[in-house]
Amino acid sequence: MTTPLPLVTDEALAEAAILLARGALVAFPTETVYGLGADATNGRAVAQIFAAKGRPTFNPLIIHVATIEAAHRLGIFSPLAEQLAAEFWPGALTLIVRRSPDCPVSELATCGLRTIALRMPSHPLARALLKRAGVPVAAPSANRSGHVSATRADHVAADLGDAVAMIIDGAATPLGIESTVLDVSGSEPTLLRPGGVTREAIEQVLGRPLVIAAPESTAAPISPGQLTSHYAPSAHLRLAATSVRPGEALLAFGADVPAHGGPMLNLSPSGDLAEAASNLFSALRALDADGADVIAVMPVPEQGLGAAINDRLRRAAAPRPS
Ligand code: TXA
Ligand code: MG
Repeated sequence: MTTPLPLVTDEALAEAAILLARGALVAFPTETVYGLGADATNGRAVAQIFAAKGRPTFNPLIIHVATIEAAHRLGIFSPLAEQLAAEFWPGALTLIVRRSPDCPVSELATCGLRTIALRMPSHPLARALLKRAGVPVAAPSANRSGHVSATRADHVAADLGDAVAMIIDGAATPLGIESTVLDVSGSEPTLLRPGGVTREAIEQVLGRPLVIAAPESTAAPISPGQLTSHYAPSAHLRLAATSVRPGEALLAFGADVPAHGGPMLNLSPSGDLAEAASNLFSALRALDADGADVIAVMPVPEQGLGAAINDRLRRAAAPRPS
């Protein structure tokens, strides 16, 4: 099932670029999830991102660029980083590299770190906006901090409302799960967040296994978006459910669904992991809106995109800071 893209005119994109140049926030679709964008070189605009999301200021932002040349001006690419960018950009891979000495990106966006997260998205509207903006665009996922990411324009509006000057509506984002975050700033490429580009695909290109960062739960972790309780709906999640208890909603996967009279959504009746990833966040939002206290979640296989899906589900199920 493909939904046609809503028409976004050149005028609307020009307006969005003007808003960015003025320091306002513009939400836009990427192939992964919606981003909450600001001119990354404008510290005051970047500060507004943190304020709008309620995001802790120790959690650095991904900087989005239109071209590899633009990325080269911001960070220092090792041969390995170069190889990965050539293979996976534009696309759902964020590379952590060392910040270049003359990098114009606000220190607030990178939280004073010596590294910078760079991504060149493939979504046509994201690319068109980045080209028009002509500056690197800092963009975290366009949701309230700690909430599930937004995969549709109405999710962005529900979470961020008036804090954003404009939302570019590109319908549902195709992948539906955030980019893979890979640290290539040191000698060993390290997977900080599983995402839209699978570990298997990266290992295939590199010809060796990746180091996998341990899940973080401390106050100022290396990749702070990996805080254990993250991506959380209001309902509690019960993972690896093979049956449904009274009063629970069901988030199903595959054809073999336990009998259940209550609210139910199936991430992919055919057991397709790409389809499941694309439905994950909107399904969590929808079951949450139904008011269930507990969402029982059927097991999802760990391979390919399943690793990213299970990562998000585990974080959503983790105990919340009160
Ligand atoms: O798909 C995506 O990546 C989306 C779209 C909008 O591009 N963006 C996104 O951003 O998911 P955000 O802010 O929700 O997640 C960025 C992740 C966080 O876990 C953050 O801690 C990590 O990247 N990160 C950013 N800069 C970093 C750095 N210098 N070192 C380590 N981790 C970093
Ligand atoms: Mg996020």
